[in-house]
Amino acid sequence: MKKTVSDFLLLENKQLNNDNFQLVLQSSEPISGIFPGQFINVEIKEANEIFLRRPFSVLDVDYESQTISLLVKILGRGSRKLTESRVGQKINAIFPLGKSFTLPEDSDRILLIGGGSGVAPMLFLAKTSGLDPKNVTILIGARSASDHIDISSYRPYGDFLFTTEDGSLGEKGYVTNHPVFVDELDRFDKIYTCGPDLMMKAIGRKAIEKNICCEVSLENMMACGFGVCLCCVEDTKTGHKCVCTDGPVFNVNDLKW
Ligand SMILES: Cc1cc2nc3c(=O)[nH]c(=O)nc-3n(C[C@H](O)[C@H](O)[C@H](O)COP(=O)(O)OP(=O)(O)OC[C@H]3O[C@@H](n4cnc5c(N)ncnc54)[C@H](O)[C@@H]3O)c2cc1C
Ligand code: FES
Repeated sequence: MKKTVSDFLLLENKQLNNDNFQLVLQSSEPISGIFPGQFINVEIKEANEIFLRRPFSVLDVDYESQTISLLVKILGRGSRKLTESRVGQKINAIFPLGKSFTLPEDSDRILLIGGGSGVAPMLFLAKTSGLDPKNVTILIGARSASDHIDISSYRPYGDFLFTTEDGSLGEKGYVTNHPVFVDELDRFDKIYTCGPDLMMKAIGRKAIEKNICCEVSLENMMACGFGVCLCCVEDTKTGHKCVCTDGPVFNVNDLKW
């Protein structure tokens, strides 16, 4: 698929909670064919000190207004700088990168599990799955209620469930403690997940044990984003794979989990 390097205009920069922001970037050219699980590699300008681009999953796309939305969680200097960008500023990015999730079949019942900023590709997948919303369950985990983002505009696309480590919203504990994960996995044909490594491994292993198709979106550290530097390599059952080009989405059966 063709990759584009483009100067986007920052249309919106909205703080969602303590350390999560939603950025809406508008391309000057028409955009097309961007799928859930794909990411864009964003240049961050800070007196040339941050020279590597930073990867962010696509949270949403509006082809009519030529916009791509991102969910950016402040982790270090680059993400902080990005969230400090001002509306009207130009932001250079390469897109779309990586392989997307395999879209479900019409009759599938799917479980989407997002942790932290891993919720972004799950929301995009829920919105674009094309399934009857009653067949889509979205389970989102965070430390506390204040770490969850407002998902109200995604409500029409499925049934939302929440966990928090302190019990301030939804079930107390991790996503893997939620009753839907503990007792009801058999009712799903496919599981999709993105989030912290430990969370995805726990989900992936359970899916393998139960023989349920499961795709995970890995967030290995990246540099080039298009298969040249090899810094994002994952050791899989079929050899070393670049997460940026062979992934970030992998079937758990292909991983050494
Ligand atoms: C395919 C992909 C999709 C992503 N999607 C999103 C998204 O939608 N929203 C979002 O907020 N973030 C996302 N990330 C993570 C995001 O790229 C990092 O948070 C960002 O690059 C950190 O840059 P920084 O300069 O702020 O932090 P740095 O200063 O580079 O690092 C700060 C600290 O975070 C650690 N770190 C940096 N990157 C990662 C990483 N990828 N995984 C684990 N630890 C890391 C570093 O080791 C360091 O300890 C994604 C990453 C990948 C690979
Ligand atoms: S980030 Fe350079 S090869 Fe993947």
